[in-house]
Amino acid sequence: MKISPPDYISKIVPYVAGKPIEELEREYGVSNAVKLASNENPLGPSPLAVEAVCKESLKLHRYPDSQGYELIEKLKSKFCLEDLAVVLGNGSDDIISMVCKAYVGIDDKVIIPDPGFLLYEISALAQGAELIKIPLKEIEIDLDAMVRASDLDTKLIFITNPNNPTGTFITEEMLVNFMEKIPETTIVFMDEAYMEFAVEGFASWKFIEKYPNIITSRTFSKAYGLAGLRIGYGVMHEDVAAVLNKVRQPFNANLLAQAGAVAALNDDVFLDRTRDLIVDEREKLSRKLEQLGFHSFKSSANFLLVDMGRSADEIYEKLLYQGVIARSMSSYGYPEFLRVSIGLEYENIRFIDSLKKILEEP
Ligand SMILES: Cc1ncc(COP(=O)(O)O)c(C=O)c1O
Repeated sequence: MKISPPDYISKIVPYVAGKPIEELEREYGVSNAVKLASNENPLGPSPLAVEAVCKESLKLHRYPDSQGYELIEKLKSKFCLEDLAVVLGNGSDDIISMVCKAYVGIDDKVIIPDPGFLLYEISALAQGAELIKIPLKEIEIDLDAMVRASDLDTKLIFITNPNNPTGTFITEEMLVNFMEKIPETTIVFMDEAYMEFAVEGFASWKFIEKYPNIITSRTFSKAYGLAGLRIGYGVMHEDVAAVLNKVRQPFNANLLAQAGAVAALNDDVFLDRTRDLIVDEREKLSRKLEQLGFHSFKSSANFLLVDMGRSADEIYEKLLYQGVIARSMSSYGYPEFLRVSIGLEYENIRFIDSLKKILEEP
């Protein structure tokens, strides 16, 4: 090919998603596969959301509301966000990429946790940013090292709370302490994709009045069970929203997604069931892993990071033959760690039973 992209685009390593069930069944000839790889909701989607999506599908010939009026109003009233602005995204991935597009120029500094969610790196590199990767301290985001690495030239810092892939949690006190040391000219992007699963959870948007450089991002993909619909949102100061709206694609939040998300916000019963299931099963799974001799780290999210004590790629591959899809963390720099999403009880048992079989292999 005679046309080449800029060097900073060539450097990007594309995102590799968790293997879909259909692909596994096709390629490995297994049936009844169990997917515990992408931190999806094992209960499926909220029934109220499904009903709303079906109803809304009759309007598929129409463009969606580019202002997302109904969903934004619903979010504002449900979470008391009247003094803040909300921007919708095609998943929270879209909010991450919008913030980079709007604020990061070539050679601007962007600080990310390492390892961390790969979209931060991809979105920042796509703008030609200078990436500063801050290694985790043990398995926690190292806020002090981020403070030390930041200066007046730092445009953006990504923080994941609870963290992916380690499940660790940053308290309100830790966040406030951190914000006191970060220049007002640096955006602090609080990615709260998993916050609903944290027993000690809080919303960083409550600090935006004091620290207008915080952007809080949330998603309907995890606790609300709508990953396939693609809808997320960012909460921010209205001046920041005005900038994001300059680069936002006008119809980025699709018709079905907006309707499904409004209905999901009305389905507190489903959200409570989801939370209860995850908290219960997370505890049970961690205990069973421990009984098998595998340490898993305390997690505030809907997954566990498990130390396999041997090649995670190898275990991942063997699990595929058993019809179980987990996630090897080797590409995150953890060659011996597996990340497993919390599933339904029978799915978690299947994972444990498959591990037992693998251990018994000669
Ligand atoms: C930390 C984190 N942020 C954001 C996302 C993106 O989620 P979505 O684009 O589905 O909202 C994910 C998805 O796995 C994630 O793990």
